Amino acid sequence: MRMTMRKITGLFVLLFLSLGLISTAQHQKLSSNSKHISPDLFGIFFEDINYAADGGLYAELIQNRSFEYSPSDRKGWNSLTSWEYLTEGFAYGTISVETQSPLNENNRHYVVLNVEDAGQDGLGLKNSGFDGIVVRAGEKYDFSVFVRQISDQSIPLQVKLLGKKGVVIGEATFSTQSTMWKKYSTVLTANQNEDSASLVIIAKGKGKLGIDVVSLFPEKTFKNRPNGLRADLAQTIADLKPKFMRFPGGCLVHGDGLGNMYRWKNTIGPIEQRVGQRNIWGYHQTAGLGYFEYFQFCEDIGAKPLPVLPAAVSCQNSGGTWRIGGTGQKGIPLDEMQAYIQEVLDLIEYANGPVTSTWGAKRAEAGHPLPFNLEYIGIGNEDKQTPEFRERFKLIYDVVSAKHPEVKIIGTVGPSPSGEDFDLGWKFARELNVPMVDEHYYEKPDWFIANQKRYDSYKRSESKVYLGEYASQGSKLFNALAEAVYMTGLERNGDVIRMASYAPMLARVGHTQWNPDLIYFNSTAISPSVNYYVQKLFSVNQGDTYYDNVESMTNQGKVSDSTLAASCVKDSKTGDVILKLVNIGKVEKTMKINLSRFKRIVANATCTVLTGAFDAKNSLEKPENVVPVTSDLKVNVKFDYKAPALSLSVIRISVKKM
Ligand code: AHR
Repeated sequence: MRMTMRKITGLFVLLFLSLGLISTAQHQKLSSNSKHISPDLFGIFFEDINYAADGGLYAELIQNRSFEYSPSDRKGWNSLTSWEYLTEGFAYGTISVETQSPLNENNRHYVVLNVEDAGQDGLGLKNSGFDGIVVRAGEKYDFSVFVRQISDQSIPLQVKLLGKKGVVIGEATFSTQSTMWKKYSTVLTANQNEDSASLVIIAKGKGKLGIDVVSLFPEKTFKNRPNGLRADLAQTIADLKPKFMRFPGGCLVHGDGLGNMYRWKNTIGPIEQRVGQRNIWGYHQTAGLGYFEYFQFCEDIGAKPLPVLPAAVSCQNSGGTWRIGGTGQKGIPLDEMQAYIQEVLDLIEYANGPVTSTWGAKRAEAGHPLPFNLEYIGIGNEDKQTPEFRERFKLIYDVVSAKHPEVKIIGTVGPSPSGEDFDLGWKFARELNVPMVDEHYYEKPDWFIANQKRYDSYKRSESKVYLGEYASQGSKLFNALAEAVYMTGLERNGDVIRMASYAPMLARVGHTQWNPDLIYFNSTAISPSVNYYVQKLFSVNQGDTYYDNVESMTNQGKVSDSTLAASCVKDSKTGDVILKLVNIGKVEKTMKINLSRFKRIVANATCTVLTGAFDAKNSLEKPENVVPVTSDLKVNVKFDYKAPALSLSVIRISVKKM
């Protein structure tokens, strides 16, 4: 009688089961060789670091639009940073920054122009945006400004887009109508392309006026949303087809001191009422890209929103050098915790509550009556596991999980893959039975390769893992491939790793505080890193069932080859079987593929390969130095795949419908 390996394995399983030596869970896995994995595995991490929001994804073209920059944002900055005072054509008068009669309490600084003589050309202000304003011929730009006429007479105002040599490439005029703060809006149409334009606002008549919140937006934002996002950058993110988006950070969440925490209520409503503040990364955040815009963007790109809120403690590195110190963590006073917990509950209501609820009504007012379907919420970011943290986390956790069992809470286990905060964080998560914890690590490529089996031994009965931040400290092809090796391990463990996101995501060249990043950009160009393409290949090729032993990666049929890694998933929506095959070695290697467990596979598959030199990178100058290339591939039930040296290959195989 011929006995197959499968039958022999089955007999051993029965024998071991009867002896009580292996658990039923393992048995299920052994007998099926497949398991369900997270359908939300690969997503994105957005933090306002490296000018990711203002000067980045947020499409506002005016820098320091509300005159709220200050030396506490950055040494040398003040209300007039990025503004220039213009007195041309013999005009004269004075400019001052004042706070006595502000637009509102959240927006205290404004400019007063006192025009004593407007001369021929008037007197005013010029702003050159973030490294110059980019406009395109024929496109429309929404201009708005708040003005308070302080003198009696109406003052004519002119708004102009200026090209590099001072050529007017778009203009509009209006006159002040009120001695109260009033918003004036107009549309400027650019009559030529310009990568480095500036905007001027000129008073053309004698008198005194206050100016605040000077704004210029391209009409063509992503999905044409008002107060929207830079279309090309948003599209580059959307192309990742992320299953979720975490926002707004990172360390930005818990902030540099208690007063610097990211408080979501400060970031909704009309932009002039939002509370801008110092960004922990050494610049200013307007909060123009706020919670509503984050939720809207998630919906627009089909990603589940994953907001992270402070665990009522500030960053442990507050007031010190980042990652050094550990003395700066401060907790919200315990007698204020009830109000803070209410703030967390209110966010859930803002996202999911009916329009008849207080916060659901505010969502509807912002233009979104339907809920945003919030499923996950993070509490805390890499916080030091002190008694102060634990006490506050537990207070929040107990109330939120009791009131909202439908929302999964994600806890935090420090900034490293091991160590004190990691161990204490996990111990605490086990005690509270937190559904998921957020692990973070930035390590060398060798670490990722050596630790690709990290999650194989994680206990399936404990808290699940959100790998919220990881990167292999470099943008070379080899870094990206080390991450790919690791990601095959994430898929293999997709029953315990429920979500994972590379970090950080965005970086404006010339304004980075952190390297490497996934996507580099300047005002006109975008350069997705090689790492981006690895993320994209995994993300657009996600599955929900994982299969063992489809690929054989032995060295000449003998020992397992440590330069190879692979995973196989099936996407139940399309029925496609997807192989991800990584070769980090310097020579081509053959992998044996056995698809015999899949019935009715179609021979015509596609194969996308990302490969190049060990240290090849992408840059703004050479954005497409290393990009994936897709071609057709004939596959069989069993076939050999020659994985090129230094490559990630993704083979997508369809299955005939019944
Ligand atoms: O991703 C950059 C920073 O790294 C994040 O703000 C922080 O959470 C992590 O330590």
